[in-house]
Amino acid sequence: MKSRPSAMTKSDGLPFLDDAAIRMFRVGKQFGEVSALKDISLAVHENDFVFVTGASGAGKSTLIRLLYLGETATEGYILVDGINLSRVTRRQVPWMRRKFGVIFQDFKLIPTRTVFENVALVLEVARLRPDEINERVCAVLERVGIADRAREYPPVLSGGEKQRVAVARAMVGEPKFILADEPTGSLDPDSAGRIFGLLEGAHQRGATIIIATHDNELIRAHSGPVIQLENGRMAMN
Ligand SMILES: Nc1ncnc2c1ncn2[C@@H]1O[C@H](COP(=O)(O)OP(=O)(O)OP(=O)(O)O)[C@@H](O)[C@H]1O
Ligand SMILES: [Mg+2]
Repeated sequence: MKSRPSAMTKSDGLPFLDDAAIRMFRVGKQFGEVSALKDISLAVHENDFVFVTGASGAGKSTLIRLLYLGETATEGYILVDGINLSRVTRRQVPWMRRKFGVIFQDFKLIPTRTVFENVALVLEVARLRPDEINERVCAVLERVGIADRAREYPPVLSGGEKQRVAVARAMVGEPKFILADEPTGSLDPDSAGRIFGLLEGAHQRGATIIIATHDNELIRAHSGPVIQLENGRMAMN
């Protein structure tokens, strides 16, 4: 791992010197007239397993996007490992994003690359050696149970298979944080259970997991803090 870019300091002059892995303070996100998030303050600690829930349009995906710098907050502060995201420069964004494995609500697999290549890309960007990339990609495809589809292209895969590729891609770099946006959204209960088991495995290996879902069954069946959003605000529960 390269050393931390010098422009960013641990405290960044902010009043939070606690050890939260993720800290949001009075965060807001406006899309023109639409307030997607309002006054969000929360802390996520290392190796937490957190659910973000709420109705469609409540702001779950937006909250996830703010964390991996897919969007920028219009109000408040977000600290990830003590780094103020509003101070991260364009050049530092890829370095910052490597902390996160993201499972997107719409998968975002590259249709013209094979399953293997989609997953390998994460490690190529991180400049790992080809033999190490090969070893790690094969191992993770095996783990998610999709190794036999490694040479296929995403358009021929079922929804559940694409979901597993998305999980493999999020895990292959062994990121500190895994952000999963509706990871079991369109799956039957067996497939959903299997995907969830993979996320639990990553959690046991030390990752901090944040799952956005409106699946209350999933939340009821597992322990962990729940962040409930209602029209972009945190609901008191
Ligand atoms: N890029 C954007 N431009 C304009 N409005 C947006 C954008 N992204 C999100 N929004 C709006 O912000 C609000 C929150 O959207 P978001 O996608 O975060 O909700 P969600 O909780 O993930 O919903 P779902 O359960 O349907 O995935 C919605 O009103 C949405 O229309
Ligand atoms: Mg969403």
